[in-house]
Amino acid sequence: MRNYKIALIPGDGTGPEVVREGVKVLKAAGMKYGFAMEFTTFDYGGQRYLRTGETLPEGAIGELKSFHAIYLGAIGHPNVKPGILERGILLRIRFELEQYINLRPVKLYSGVETPLKDKGPEDIDFVVIRENTEGFYTGAGGVLRKGTPYEVSIQESINTRYGVERCVRFAYEYCRQNGRKKLTLCGKTNVLTYAYDLWERTFYEVGAEYPDIAKDYAHIDAICMWMVKNPEQFEVIVTDNMFGDIITDLGAMIQGGMGIAAGGNINPQGVSMFEPIGGSAPKYTGKGVINPLAAINEAQMMLSFLGEKEAIDRVEKAVMETCRRLKRMDAGKMGFSTSEVGELVVSYL
Ligand code: IPM
Ligand code: MN
Repeated sequence: MRNYKIALIPGDGTGPEVVREGVKVLKAAGMKYGFAMEFTTFDYGGQRYLRTGETLPEGAIGELKSFHAIYLGAIGHPNVKPGILERGILLRIRFELEQYINLRPVKLYSGVETPLKDKGPEDIDFVVIRENTEGFYTGAGGVLRKGTPYEVSIQESINTRYGVERCVRFAYEYCRQNGRKKLTLCGKTNVLTYAYDLWERTFYEVGAEYPDIAKDYAHIDAICMWMVKNPEQFEVIVTDNMFGDIITDLGAMIQGGMGIAAGGNINPQGVSMFEPIGGSAPKYTGKGVINPLAAINEAQMMLSFLGEKEAIDRVEKAVMETCRRLKRMDAGKMGFSTSEVGELVVSYL
């Protein structure tokens, strides 16, 4: 039997509630399709930080490297200043495990409500490939004369040929392997001329090796407009860290909300980490009303990276069936509790 060692980081807020349902689905899928998952839980998150002053303990990164994958709930705590947990846990894992791709499907399932009038599942089905280790996220920059009227703050976007090229190449390969025919580069070549010139040149140079994939470029502002107006024109979008962060929240909304949107932080040669796009949702914590489908979709994405072919399709179909049963995707409005939604998915496996 195939046996996977999974690092489980439930994290903060509603994180533990949603991963509990994901684990339930993974275990049930394993029984049916012939694999086992052994979970090791890590208490990284806001509670631990408030107790110990530590984000990730020494040796954590090394230890995480010994797993087949990492399954994450949510990181973020109302009593911790923004930036500490995000940089100290989430971004550290992404950077140090070289999870250089953040893969975020934007897919509207039938029966799920979208705020886009006149758009349906046949129109909203694309994937955003976000560079995940560079750009504005590196923390490069600084501040001078802080707190004075003459304060200067500089935040730099770092783009390396190596980082951009491996991301763009991943995107072309992804298109090929998933039968997608068009790749759109999202940038801002008309204003941010250094960064996106590198992206654009790399995109077309690497693209010469992929004559079978149509190439398309659009500015970030236009992409936002078209994601709302003509989402059907997108198949795969590749972009940098910051723009990818922004457009995937927009993407999550048009596919039915944070309750359903999931992503994978991918290192194709190493250990990847799967997480819902939404945060820790303190407002809903402990109430049993949060939608676990994002965490279940993320589990499905993890199965696809582990190569569990049979289970991938079944879990997706079970999620689709479950979507038809829920009244809404938003927390508290589903017509079912968090654990009932998990059980519904299991019942459709
Ligand atoms: C995301 C989140 C993170 C990001 C935050 C929590 C650091 O918004 O995964 O999209 O900006 O990458
Ligand atoms: Mn985000």
